Parts: sequence; structure tokens; C-alpha cells
Amino acid sequence: MNMEDIIIKKRDGGKLTEQEIRYFVRGYTAGDIPDYQASALLMAIYFQKLDREETFQLTDAMKSSGDMADLSGIPGIKVDKHSTGGVGDKTTLIAAPIAAACGVPIAKMSGRGLGFTGGTIDKLESIPGMRTTLTPEEFTAQVSEIGIALIGQSGHITPADKKIYALRDVTGTVENMSLIASSIMSKKLAAGSDAIVLDVKCGDGAFMKKQEDARELGQIMCDIGESAGRKTIAMITDMNQPLGCAVGNGLEVREAIDVLHGKGPYDITELSLQLAGAMIYLGGRVKAFEEGAYMARQALSSGAAWEKFRMLVQHQGGDLETIEDPDLLPRSDTKKQIIADSYGFVSRIEAEQIGIASQHTGAGRAVKDEAIDPGAGVVLEKKVGDHVSKGEVLAAVYASSRKKAELAADEVELAYTISRDRPEVPELIKEIIR
Ligand code: URA
Repeated sequence: MNMEDIIIKKRDGGKLTEQEIRYFVRGYTAGDIPDYQASALLMAIYFQKLDREETFQLTDAMKSSGDMADLSGIPGIKVDKHSTGGVGDKTTLIAAPIAAACGVPIAKMSGRGLGFTGGTIDKLESIPGMRTTLTPEEFTAQVSEIGIALIGQSGHITPADKKIYALRDVTGTVENMSLIASSIMSKKLAAGSDAIVLDVKCGDGAFMKKQEDARELGQIMCDIGESAGRKTIAMITDMNQPLGCAVGNGLEVREAIDVLHGKGPYDITELSLQLAGAMIYLGGRVKAFEEGAYMARQALSSGAAWEKFRMLVQHQGGDLETIEDPDLLPRSDTKKQIIADSYGFVSRIEAEQIGIASQHTGAGRAVKDEAIDPGAGVVLEKKVGDHVSKGEVLAAVYASSRKKAELAADEVELAYTISRDRPEVPELIKEIIR
């Protein structure tokens, strides 16, 4: 087998065999296939596409390229959740404890933020003392004991995806459905859970701007999951404005705590309940899909979900006092408010712009491994559909310096559109693919 033949076959629209796909993935990961040949193949795939079988083979080859989590020692159906990335998306902090409170074991690895999207691990680490690295033994023992553990990606998981994704990033080959789906699903399959709930974001602030594209991505990922024997549900959800009001790590933890106390914003509460409902259903705790969200709601209103979150924080070394009194969570000293200069209704809040503004406050990183400010970010006071009067506060930014706060505040101001007519509020959950 040689790489040139594989490139030519795909360039001319041929179907790659399992052996050819494995040859490429193995050879490129090991450093035996040079970047220029891998780039040529990725570009051929970009134009000629992969069919369902090839997409699954690619996913499977990448999944097996490194360590795979073994969760078999934990009893029950383990359910994972993944979001394709949004602004203000703190649903894992809420849906995971809700599902765990309903008896679904959650053994979850999460990521860090990059660019304008945040990451669960950065959010959790804004709680003083919180450990997001556990040994495999500690991880398994904690899930067996309290039903939940949330940690950063550990071990040497999917090195093939790391290398191929980095190459796609600089060769104009990210935006291919099969490549995106196989990249995400290889990591989810290697993370070891039995079932997966996918939150495919759609809109301004998402990878997928159009609903039909989000649907196609969701469908391909569900097909991969099912082919791998993992029950998978994809929800297509709105990202035309930030989710909830808080964007930025410590600020988002405060909001997640509000939601767990039943007093959070409507959109983040409702989406978290629906995601948790799907997790509860896949975890076999209810018979009908619709019953999952009902059970989730009960776990929230009874305080069981909050109690589970408390246990999670306590077991991972987090300071309980700061979550019991969230005013003790980090919040940067310099605050600047954004004031409405006209009256009307908020008709648009560009999610990506808010994400970029939050990054500029210090809450996000432009490059991998950059330090972040856990107390920085943006808090929206008005959301799409809200009425505003001239002089009312639209939002506030928090940063460690006036310069950062002023830059971010200008960006937040530009993200808002105020119109005279009441706009339609975008539907939160657009579709569910089961
Ligand atoms: N996220 C991933 O993990 N991979 C992609 O290809 C795109 C988004």
C-alpha cells in the first residue's frame, strides 16, 4: 500500500477501504507519512467526501490510535454529553449533576476553552482547590462512590485526531462534515461511555450557521455512535445568542449554581433539563424519552441535583464555602457597564462577538495553554426579546484592568442590536435526532 495511490483514489472519487484508512491514520500518527501527503488526502476528502462506512472507519481508526478509557468497572449505563461549542454554554455543570442525581453514572472528560468558546474544565477550576486531574483509579472510584466525576482529558487519548485536526486547521480542511464528525466521535468513543448525548449548536455563534448543516452533522455523529454500538441522541440547539447571561469561567459557575437552585435564566435552565432528560433516558432510568426531562425537573426542584454538584466539588477538593456563597467565587475588580443609547427591543446579540469580548477581558485564551483570568467575562442584563429603555444597562464586563474592560465593553456594545419592533425569540431546541 502506498500513500500516493490512496490520494489519487480519493481525488478521483473512489471509496477507501478500511485497510487504506488505517494505513493513513497509523502512518501519519507515527510520523511515517509526511504532512504534504496527509494534507493532499484531506483536501481530496474535503472535495470528494467520505461515505458512511468510510467515515466510521476513520473514526474507529482514530479512536484506537491511543489510550481508551475503561469504564467497565463502574456499574450501570455510563452516559456522556458533548457540545459542539458555544458561548455561555455551562450545561455540563448543570445537566451532569442532574443526570447523576437520577442514577445515571457520569464519568466525563471535558476540555478547555480556546478562542471564543469556553471549556468546562476552565469553569470548574475557577472554584478554588478544585482538582480536574484524577488518576484512572481515583476517577473510577469516585464515580462508583458518588455517581459523578468531571475531569480534563487524561492519558494519551486519540493522538491521531490531535495531529490530523492540527493539520486541518492550517490547510483549509476543517469544514467537512465527515472529518468534523469523526474527530468529535473518535474522542467520545475513546472516552468509554456506553451512550452519548450530543448538543449540536446552530447559529451565529456556532460552527454550523445553518440548521440543515447542523442536522447533517448530528445525523452523521448519531450514525457513527450507533455503528460503534453506543446509543446516541443529537439535539440541534440555538446559538444565535449566548446561552444564559454569564460568559466567563467564575461568572458561569455562579450562574450554574443559580440554575441548580432553581433561579437561573430560562434558556440555560430549560436546555440543561432537556439534555439531562436525554441522558436519563439513554441511561435507562425511564422508559419513554419524554419522561427523562420530567425526572430531571424533579431532581432540580427537590435539591437533589444541587446536592450532587456539592458532592462533586467536595470530592474533587473544591472549596465548599465558595459554592455555598458564590460571592466568594472569583470576579474581576474592574467593571464596566454597557448602556442602551436608544429604546426598543433587543433583536440580536451576536454570540461570537460576545465570546470574543469575553476572551479579551481575559476569560479566554487565543492560543493553547495560555493562562486565563477566572474572574473575568461578560454578564448580559438583557437578552433577545427584552424591552430596553434609553439609559438602561444592557450588560457588564469584568476584567483585571480598565484597558481590557473598555475594549471588551466596546465589543459587547457592537454585538447588540436594538430595534423598534419586538423580534421573534429563536427556538431553543430546533430538532432532536434519535
Ligand atoms: N471539534 C473537534 O473536536 N473536531 C473538529 O473537527 C471540529 C470541532
